[in-house]
Amino acid sequence: MGISSQAVAERRDAVLIEPPVLRPQGPLLPEDFFFGAPRSEKAFCGADGLLQGPAFTSEELGTIRALIKQHLVETAYGFSSTAADAIANAELENYHLISKEVDHGRLLSKKGRILPKSIVDAIKQMSFFDYVEKAMGPFYLSDEEGVGHEQICFRIVRPHRREDVGSLHRDSWFWDYYGFNVPPGIARGKVWVAVGGEPGLAGLLLAPGSQNISAPYRTETVNGKLAFVPDFDIENIGLQRYCGALGEPVMFNYDTLHVGSLNRAEQCRVSFEITIMFKSAS
Ligand SMILES: [Fe+2]
Repeated sequence: MGISSQAVAERRDAVLIEPPVLRPQGPLLPEDFFFGAPRSEKAFCGADGLLQGPAFTSEELGTIRALIKQHLVETAYGFSSTAADAIANAELENYHLISKEVDHGRLLSKKGRILPKSIVDAIKQMSFFDYVEKAMGPFYLSDEEGVGHEQICFRIVRPHRREDVGSLHRDSWFWDYYGFNVPPGIARGKVWVAVGGEPGLAGLLLAPGSQNISAPYRTETVNGKLAFVPDFDIENIGLQRYCGALGEPVMFNYDTLHVGSLNRAEQCRVSFEITIMFKSAS
């Protein structure tokens, strides 16, 4: 029996899967974060390779949202005051309603999505990072693109726009592909936080325990963007949807397979992510 090539393509697109809800353990006490193992990249978040982290307070969440919006407005002013005004007057989640007036690709290019140092410094003062320091010891945030300061990268995913989401991957694959340098003795771990939108309809898809499986892949360039193409059956890796509330981080292993889901809500999903760099004990 034949299946159309389009059906095959759709079946293999992890972004379109509607998996069960992920209910990660956590937040654990910081001393339990590595489940008794020495601190290392491999032991980050234990056997599941993912954990819920302590939530940002509602005040902190409001501040982060305001800072992201301020950054968007300032970036937009660089090329269009009309676009900047439109963004300033819209709710963050309603960005898609005014995105026709904005050069979306330019505003939200990879570099455009990296928050400036002043905003990073403000966010790093927040309570979540006390937990990170207790769990991981002295740490810093990665700057793999070499912008010259610690990075916090945000993302806006418009409703029903497949092209706003990437492809299934491990974060370590980007580092391998681009040859980003991991300093000797330093380990990496990931944090992802939704700060806008409807998590139940637009969460991150992650596969618990997938940091240890064999996951061969190819790379392709689609519309000028790097895309990873899994050479394994994505139906069998156990993807689940993280639906934590806004401001509730999911922390995960640098080899955990994951991808943004299609945003099935009518509002934008706004999130930010960071890579924690810490001293490995092994
Ligand atoms: Fe990622």
